[in-house]
Amino acid sequence: MTERIAIIGGGLMGHGIALVFACAGHQVRITDAVSEARAHIRKRIETTLGELGRDRKAVEKVQVVDTLKACVADADVVIEAAPENLELKQQIFAEVEQAAPSGAILASNTSVITIGQIMSPVKDKSRALGTHWWNPPYLVPLVEVVRTSDVSEATVAGMVELLRRVGKSPVEVRKDVPGFVGNRLQHALWREAIALVAEGVCDAKTVDEVVKSSFGARLAVLGPIENADLVGVDLTRAIHSYILPSLDRATEPSPYLDRLIGEERLGFKSGRGFRDWPAEAQAALRAQVTRHLKTMFDTPRGD
Ligand SMILES: NC(=O)c1ccc[n+]([C@@H]2O[C@H](COP(=O)([O-])OP(=O)(O)OC[C@H]3O[C@@H](n4cnc5c(N)ncnc54)[C@H](O)[C@@H]3O)[C@@H](O)[C@H]2O)c1
Repeated sequence: MTERIAIIGGGLMGHGIALVFACAGHQVRITDAVSEARAHIRKRIETTLGELGRDRKAVEKVQVVDTLKACVADADVVIEAAPENLELKQQIFAEVEQAAPSGAILASNTSVITIGQIMSPVKDKSRALGTHWWNPPYLVPLVEVVRTSDVSEATVAGMVELLRRVGKSPVEVRKDVPGFVGNRLQHALWREAIALVAEGVCDAKTVDEVVKSSFGARLAVLGPIENADLVGVDLTRAIHSYILPSLDRATEPSPYLDRLIGEERLGFKSGRGFRDWPAEAQAALRAQVTRHLKTMFDTPRGD
């Protein structure tokens, strides 16, 4: 079976998710609210296919359409990859439910917003769930499949099976909590990293060096729970009794971020963030990340 896939939002994630399904032989329809974005989707997919060394003909499976209605009209699966804005996503799913077949699975690729909130306007919530892909979706294998209290077993099983068939590694998230599993873990680390810099414990470059040259290098083969078992649950408890009281536990974004933003230090997009990022340093880091992920995960398909 090759389900018809509809993708709402043709940006960084949407074009990459389209590429995954197209390479696996699915018909993909994709739309974007911005006409210039629509005009570039196929070229963007072709360029990425070229960079991956895959057959550019896969782009022929992708049809770019002007309206949401046309995009979802005969879809088996709808994946929303529009900007991270709750009201916008709610509005999209209200429209999708009107226009898509009644049996279509509806999925949001939100990074952190709960699926229950996003799907609140949807009447039939048994077919709605989260699929949290990671960037770039054609290299990183994991997709978090997020359950809600209303989703049906058939919807979850159908999505998990589809994702496996297109070469992804789905995991089920049983509770619809903000950030699911991956982004909760990731941002717990970032909160502490920012606090260390803000408090002058070390500079920003040192934070990244410490992670990359120590536990970060192990993480791909040794998860935190495996590591706790490896060193011992008793040692883990002893360490926590000393360190947890001093870890950052802010419930608001750090004022340090507001200071950087006030100084136009937005990161790559303004050439300076925590650290300085001249164009060549940005290109080098992006290339290094892609090379690393390709080495780890890219298993060329025969298509
Ligand atoms: N960038 C990441 O690393 C990443 C990873 C996982 C999940 N996500 C999530 O995926 C979603 C998309 O992120 P992205 O990085 O691709 O953003 P992006 O800005 O690259 O793409 C979003 C696209 O949606 C379009 N859009 C805006 N309003 C729309 C509408 N009403 N209908 C259709 N399209 C519309 C925009 O024109 C844009 O092309 C967000 O929810 C984001 O949080 C992002």
